[in-house]
Amino acid sequence: MNKWKDEPDFSDALLERPRRLRRTPILREIAAETRVEPERLMMPHFVIPGEAERSSIEAMPGIERLSVDLLVDQVGSDLELGINKVLLFGVPETSEKNDTGSSASDAKGLVPKAVTALKKAFGEDLLVATDVCLCAYTDHGHCGVLSGGEVLNDESLPYLAGMAVAHAQAGADIVAPSDMMDGRVLAIREGLDEVGLSHTAIMSYSVKYASAYYGPFREAAGSAPGKGDRKGYQMDPRNRREAKREAVMDEEEGADILMVKPALAYLDIISDVREETELPLACYNVSGEFSMVKAAAARGWINEQAVVTENLHAMRRAGADLLITYHARDARKGGWL
Ligand code: PBG
Ligand code: ZN
Repeated sequence: MNKWKDEPDFSDALLERPRRLRRTPILREIAAETRVEPERLMMPHFVIPGEAERSSIEAMPGIERLSVDLLVDQVGSDLELGINKVLLFGVPETSEKNDTGSSASDAKGLVPKAVTALKKAFGEDLLVATDVCLCAYTDHGHCGVLSGGEVLNDESLPYLAGMAVAHAQAGADIVAPSDMMDGRVLAIREGLDEVGLSHTAIMSYSVKYASAYYGPFREAAGSAPGKGDRKGYQMDPRNRREAKREAVMDEEEGADILMVKPALAYLDIISDVREETELPLACYNVSGEFSMVKAAAARGWINEQAVVTENLHAMRRAGADLLITYHARDARKGGWL
């Protein structure tokens, strides 16, 4: 007579109990598949002309446009939080802008100045990446040279290469083209190599969508197109296969790091590109994604720490090695990571 005979028989159903490893925080640490180390974070910055100048950006609480001297102070205090990677965007005076955005390649321009000052202050303790795109420097606000309402591809390449060279000559470790012209990675690689800058890395915004999530950035950088939109050069949000094609092309043109942008609405794309290439992969958690979290948190509708931590892990889980995010400072200051 089996003494268990009258007991209910759960044996098949209960072989697997995933909840066992969710029971305590330390058990959950063991089971955790994804971590976001502080080394994964890169902080974007907006650089303005002048001295002791700062201005806030309405839709991006806590993020300010800074003149070079204040930028050095800010980056110094971020370094103490363990944020040792920055991505710089120049926000030039309107009077500097023209139809080809030629001031973008000025060796004495805003971004080269900022790069020089940061490298002088922090040397190899800081990694400096710079955004390479014409939209903040053209009077029409498009990312390339405009003719008859068309953004010209090949005509834009020398300007982009010139901008990249100016940044690299000032000491940028990485140049990051975000314009989405075809062939710009190759043009920039050749431009850099020609002047002996074969060591400067290219982080290509390979898979950049024509996204409404860039809204707050365009206010911050004064880079909204005057007429039209960017759908003629940035990717269609409906497309997934095309992302792999863009990524492979940039790898073949000599990109060192690839990027998917935006991040949160494109986690499938991050995952796809991760599968497609062995290169390091960045994702850009863009301005609109940041603003939405900040706005909801300010109203007490979400828990900012929990949501930001969840979002950063989602990007990392999808396969990104490097997370470019305006949340970096808050996350480190708050001890969230
Ligand atoms: C410039 C550029 C943009 C962003 C990065 N580089 C704006 C755009 O393409 O319109 C967006 C960054 C953000 O929204 O945080 N081409
Ligand atoms: Zn642009």
